[in-house]
Amino acid sequence: MAERPSRRTALTLGLVGVGTVGAGLAGLKIAGAPPFSEPVASTSPSAADATGGGAAWAEPPVLASEDGFLELDLTAAPTQVEVAGGTAIMLAYNGSVPGPTLHLSPGDTLRVRLTNALDEPTNLHTHGLQVSPLADGDNPFISIEPRQSFDYVIVIDPDHPHGVFWYHPHHHGTVADQVFGGLYGAIVIDRDDWSQRAPRVAVVSDVTLVDGGVATVSAAERRQGRLGEAVLVNGLLAPDLATAPGATERLLLINACASRYLDLDPGGATVRVRGIDGGTFDSPRDGSRLLLAPGNRADLEIDMVDAPVTLTARAHGIGSMGMGMMSAGVEPDDALLLTLVPDARADTPVPVPPASFRPRDLREADVDARRTLSFTMAMGGGGMRFLIDGEEFDATRIDQQADVGTVEEWTLRNRTMMDHPFHLHVWPMQLMEADGIDLRDVVDVPAGEDVVVRIGFDRVPGTTVYHCHVLDHEDLGMMGVIDVAPAVQTGAEVPEDSADVEG
Ligand code: C2O
Ligand code: CU
Repeated sequence: MAERPSRRTALTLGLVGVGTVGAGLAGLKIAGAPPFSEPVASTSPSAADATGGGAAWAEPPVLASEDGFLELDLTAAPTQVEVAGGTAIMLAYNGSVPGPTLHLSPGDTLRVRLTNALDEPTNLHTHGLQVSPLADGDNPFISIEPRQSFDYVIVIDPDHPHGVFWYHPHHHGTVADQVFGGLYGAIVIDRDDWSQRAPRVAVVSDVTLVDGGVATVSAAERRQGRLGEAVLVNGLLAPDLATAPGATERLLLINACASRYLDLDPGGATVRVRGIDGGTFDSPRDGSRLLLAPGNRADLEIDMVDAPVTLTARAHGIGSMGMGMMSAGVEPDDALLLTLVPDARADTPVPVPPASFRPRDLREADVDARRTLSFTMAMGGGGMRFLIDGEEFDATRIDQQADVGTVEEWTLRNRTMMDHPFHLHVWPMQLMEADGIDLRDVVDVPAGEDVVVRIGFDRVPGTTVYHCHVLDHEDLGMMGVIDVAPAVQTGAEVPEDSADVEG
């Protein structure tokens, strides 16, 4: 692989300590500026506990678009990285875990040359973006072989909602291994200039490190959905985020764990949820407890008082396979994610911008079609099979056919003894049970339950996938293919702004 020492060095520095971030990044446009006017933590690991006992807060480097474009080379490679307070060989994008945060605005074009320096195929999914899944877009059917590159072009509509999204590999069969190995990064879409002060990005992941590398997992752990022993925030164990007393901190949190749910408990602190996934609520909701399935994101506001605020992921089991099969691997356990530590030296956060985007309410829409998708599990073929509508994933079979411009109601029916978080690429789903508009791209479907969603097939046509975002289950076959045909030409072409869901 083509080494770029200066970038590599810079990317690694971005993770090791808040005090170093400003200094070492010449040549990269870095907007994730350190939160302090004066460094409070040195680069020495022993001094990293200047505030509360955990690692000093740090975020992945930020690559921001300029003049409507963000062009970058992204290399996926086994790399020795700073992680969990030590070093380990993980899979990394551009030498860091997580990979760089991509800051984009509606109307931008993202060009990524992805180079595969792994020893197996990979590819790239821009999770949650409402962009074309065709050709060189957000196409999950692409396979990039080892030592090959592929040029992605992701065109973001001018009216694309603001929000926090993410990217990760999507090569069927190895998605869980590659994400667990360290391949994930944040995407934030807004119009703000981050040169003054960026929102906090917290990429939560889990991993089990053994002998300086990532542990392999058993077949039983895959069936159960693997849990890593270490739960990390931006590659750090339980970091401390210094924040101004009395301020409102904004945290964009991503559940990038391969298969772990995060049951967020802010320990009584006042937390408001501005939105989940790519959606922003009409008004913020109570965040005193919030369940994020794998793949979900939350836009959080946290009111700081004079005492530290801890954010803990409470143990959350997803059920088991029953039939006398033992659960396997790590049991879910509480994990301290991060501590917000009041520190008078910290800058006061910039005010949170008002929501810029108001989706239409699909509860009031005419429904063009209704479908039921059933998740089942069955013994066969030498193991447990994870099925949707009785079928394992087959990239050559189209399971659902819809049309651009229509609204559909889907009943997600879980006939198994485990929870399955359902992810549909490209087109967000509105929860019918929720108060107000609640749009998500990952919807948790608890064991034995039905969840009803409505989907507006707006914006773009194309063929893509839906699947369980317990990525082990996806790799085991719990995925289907949807083809959304372009709007039928009935004399008048469907106007461009028919995909405009702004109110
Ligand atoms: Cu985050 Cu189809 O995946
Ligand atoms: Cu599942």
